[in-house]
Amino acid sequence: MQIRRAGFCRRSGRLSTALLIGTLTLTSVQVCAQAILEGERFHPAVARQGMVATSHTLATTVALEVLKNGGNAVDAAVTAGFALAVTQPRSGNIGGGGFMLIAPGDGSDPEAIDYRETAPAAATEAMFQDQEGNVVKDRSRFTHLAAGVPGTVAGLALALERHGTISLEQALIPAIRLAQDGFIVPQRFTDGLEQARERLTRWPATLETFYKKDGSAWKPGERFRQPELAETLRRIVDDGVKGFYEGKTAELIADEMERHGGLITLDDLKNYTPQVRKPVHGNYRGYDIYSMSPPSSGGTHIVQILNILEGYPIGESGHNSAKTIHLMAEAMKLAYADRSEYLGDTDYVDVPLKGLTSKVYADKLRSRINPDKATPASKIKPGQPAPYESNETTHFSVVDQWGNAVSNTYTINFSYGSGITVKGAGFLLNNEMDDFSAKPGVPNTYGLIGGAANKVEPGKRMLSSMSPTIVRKDGKNVLVTGSPGGSRIITTTLQVIMNVIDHGMNIQTSVSSPRIHHQWLPDEIRIEQGISPDTIQLLESRGHKVVTNSAMGAIQSIMVGEDGTLYGGADPRRSTSSAMGF
Ligand code: DON
Repeated sequence: MQIRRAGFCRRSGRLSTALLIGTLTLTSVQVCAQAILEGERFHPAVARQGMVATSHTLATTVALEVLKNGGNAVDAAVTAGFALAVTQPRSGNIGGGGFMLIAPGDGSDPEAIDYRETAPAAATEAMFQDQEGNVVKDRSRFTHLAAGVPGTVAGLALALERHGTISLEQALIPAIRLAQDGFIVPQRFTDGLEQARERLTRWPATLETFYKKDGSAWKPGERFRQPELAETLRRIVDDGVKGFYEGKTAELIADEMERHGGLITLDDLKNYTPQVRKPVHGNYRGYDIYSMSPPSSGGTHIVQILNILEGYPIGESGHNSAKTIHLMAEAMKLAYADRSEYLGDTDYVDVPLKGLTSKVYADKLRSRINPDKATPASKIKPGQPAPYESNETTHFSVVDQWGNAVSNTYTINFSYGSGITVKGAGFLLNNEMDDFSAKPGVPNTYGLIGGAANKVEPGKRMLSSMSPTIVRKDGKNVLVTGSPGGSRIITTTLQVIMNVIDHGMNIQTSVSSPRIHHQWLPDEIRIEQGISPDTIQLLESRGHKVVTNSAMGAIQSIMVGEDGTLYGGADPRRSTSSAMGF
């Protein structure tokens, strides 16, 4: 019997015994012949010709307009990227960086644009340590030293140049309009600025740009305008990327740095270069997984964890059962321990990518997993636990009428990045330098431990977890996904892939379902609301510490049915998320 849903179908039952004996891949997994949404609890957006999923309705709307006018997925993605820089200043940006994965609809090789920030030329290994070698936490988070050289403008422009059909000006017009004419503020916009008030308002330019004259936050329903940002964007229209990396904007950034002891110079800006990279490629139960390569750790560890889990009949164990969560958590621990040791910018350090993503290595790791008992993190590798913090990045996914797919995650790291607005330029600077390892063994904000591979070096890209991902079946793009969430990006993205492939869920259910996370250290499974108390008890009896906390990630995804129907799944964890098609 075959289960027919709007997810990818899986053959029911009986796969387990074959899988338990070896490293067999599940080539027998099939895509549903027809999508059936009747009787489902969650419903995706459904369309035929184009689909956009972003974390802000206005960005979704302008990107969809590009598709409707005959633009391709890259045109729409770049337009969304610039629009989010206006409508969602907590994570949409031109002062940060990110990664874009592009998978052509004709089945040719996917490509990644790496526009991650770089360390300024004057950066040093110990710049976030005091005289005694102790890490000075806030220095890499809330000072001008926290900012890496922004990559977003160069990255989006490069994507457009290589694959787009519209001009940079056309991609910028909606953003300029939104900045100049303003937009109606949603509740989430106000809430974000209220929550971050203390650390944002200490910077006069941030106070002036994002709050009213009397210092209060813009209220839901009011119109918020950003004239300085509009001018900054216009300079890109006038002079292309040079309109950001040279000339007035560059001078404003360099002046801002000089006034406050920051390191970014005119030369750093002029020298910034986005890179075209080969995505990490893996295979999971007959599906091709393409995801982000270093300097992100995302793709490597998604593939590594999937390789480990492929040896278990996950579909049969069931979604979010104690058995499944146990196996996932054990696999996650092993991967995050490797992350701390091996991952860094491959332009500076050797990363054993092939080894980490090989099936043989996954077999070895799997053999270390006890199916009934949690292995304490300390037995895997020593480290230090660290608390989680609320943060923000943003992901968007696009598929066009030709089946081209774009998966893009970009960020300024924390919500509102460093909190520092470039005076006169109207945009926030990232605090991505915190993603470097300030000192080997000392966790960053996300509790992630790093080693020498991720130490600060001039011009180097800091290690990321961002995981824009595209899944293919027989050369066709079938799933486009990715998420914010710091260290939880990898596990969030992983779970949507598994929900679709292992559990046959439609994309909206895959996105909405409760998630779990383990990152080796701290040694605990973090769960969202919605995992039953019985399951928690069973996990505890296996030796796990289980902690319920706030929502994880905001995964904007698109699935393509066998007949080409597009299904958009916007993450309800962000009230402004939207998926729309035509
Ligand atoms: O690159 C990274 O992995 C982090 N800077 C991402 C930060 C993030 O996702 C914050 N958000 N939710």
